[in-house]
Amino acid sequence: MGIETSCDETAAAVVRSGEKLLSSVVSSQIATHQPYGGVVPELASREHLRAIVPVVRQALAEAGQTYESVDAIAVTQGPGLAGALLVGISYAKSLAFALEKPLITVNHLEGHIHAVLLEERQKGGLQLDFPVLALVVSGGHTHLFLAEERERGWVYENIGRTRDDAAGEAYDKVAKLLGLGYPGGPVIDALARKGNPRAVKFGPAQIKHLNRGTPRAQQTPYDFSFSGIKTAVLRYVELEGMRESIEARRLALSALANPGTEDILPFCDRKTLDLVASFQRSVVHDLVSKTLQAAGERGARTLFVTGGVAANSELRATFEKEAVPSGLPVYFPSRKLSTDNAAMIAAAAYPKFLAGDFAEAGFSAEASLPLK
Ligand code: KG4
Ligand code: ZN
Repeated sequence: MGIETSCDETAAAVVRSGEKLLSSVVSSQIATHQPYGGVVPELASREHLRAIVPVVRQALAEAGQTYESVDAIAVTQGPGLAGALLVGISYAKSLAFALEKPLITVNHLEGHIHAVLLEERQKGGLQLDFPVLALVVSGGHTHLFLAEERERGWVYENIGRTRDDAAGEAYDKVAKLLGLGYPGGPVIDALARKGNPRAVKFGPAQIKHLNRGTPRAQQTPYDFSFSGIKTAVLRYVELEGMRESIEARRLALSALANPGTEDILPFCDRKTLDLVASFQRSVVHDLVSKTLQAAGERGARTLFVTGGVAANSELRATFEKEAVPSGLPVYFPSRKLSTDNAAMIAAAAYPKFLAGDFAEAGFSAEASLPLK
């Protein structure tokens, strides 16, 4: 059984042998954080406390399992919000202690990678060529990991990371700025289809990998930066005098309980649709081009794209269009397992379970846990 509470989803799942999904329950806190346009850490911890017991119960019930029948308990140790992580960890520790079951810690980022593996193994016949290059791209992370398989599981080299905002964070901040609600990814994904992606020219959303103050040894050619494009959107809004229409949209949408794209669309003029389409095109282009450059230069044989932003339709289509013809197979999780869930945590724990790699009683949350 996997337990995940690193950010704003309380999740529990039961997975058999790392490859068969028996249940996956995700309790989202979107409604709690929506008024703030982003995750509020204290509120996240409080909501996890409220949800953890019923979510675990539901995951067991849907899997036809009991507390006693699961073989081990896996929990996200980090990276994530410390207070949020602690709720899952404390609960998992208590369960493991009371039930006398082994407890396994999982890195959230390795979880996202295992979401892909879980589903591909479930389909059967998965043959992977290594090294695998994994782009983990979500609200909190934008990382490139080069992965090799070893006897006790996979080992990772972090060859690229964001220097400032994560890609999903840029989606969320731009959506907030444009009065489109939270989270920004799904709504921008849907609205971008209605706009002209060539209407607004953004400079390449990249830093020249030479951030002042960052030691040269810590810089990599595959680093990302998304705070510049957010500022460019803000500048465009000011120059084009879009403030008033944004405020009108914000006000209109605040009256709706849970606005969907069809509610938002009537409040979006051509200029707004073109702006979000151009923003998305620029972010997708940057993610795909740096990933493919890294894959070529580092000899990757397989590509994984995972994390919340991997749900994006243009990102998927662009990777398929550009990677597959060059002989690089690309794998994504289903949209359901792209965003945070606990099935990926249970799946990532399975090789550790086989290796007897169990947690020491004294471990705690690690907000910046690196993946190695
Ligand atoms: O993986 P995730 O659930 O949580 C983190 O670990 O951060 O990712 C959530 C992020 C949010 O920033 C959300 O806006 C973004 O993923 N997202 C998307 C899409 N669906 C979710 N971004 C772009 N397009 C989407 N369709
Ligand atoms: Zn995540």
